[in-house]
Amino acid sequence: MGMQQEEWMWVLADYVVIRALENGVTIMGLTRGRDTKFHHTEKLDKGEVMIAQFTEHTSAIKVRGKAEILTKHGRVRTDE
Ligand code: TRP
Repeated sequence: MGMQQEEWMWVLADYVVIRALENGVTIMGLTRGRDTKFHHTEKLDKGEVMIAQFTEHTSAIKVRGKAEILTKHGRVRTDE
């Protein structure tokens, strides 16, 4: 598959929703591939929502702080 197509492969991927239940919730994006580094950090305050996809650059996220996370696999909260 050509590079042009690979770069677009994630556009129809599922979204995840992260809803901050307190101020200062941090979402950290971890790099896809052999090494695992934090490449992006996003801060949410209480009530703010982030709707995001995994991409060719991001294969995992870490959520710190009290938050609700909705995915097609279900709903999780960081504090339960
Ligand atoms: N670089 C790793 C990878 O692409 C990132 C990663 C994915 C990861 N899932 C993880 C790191 C679970 C820790 C735990 O596979």
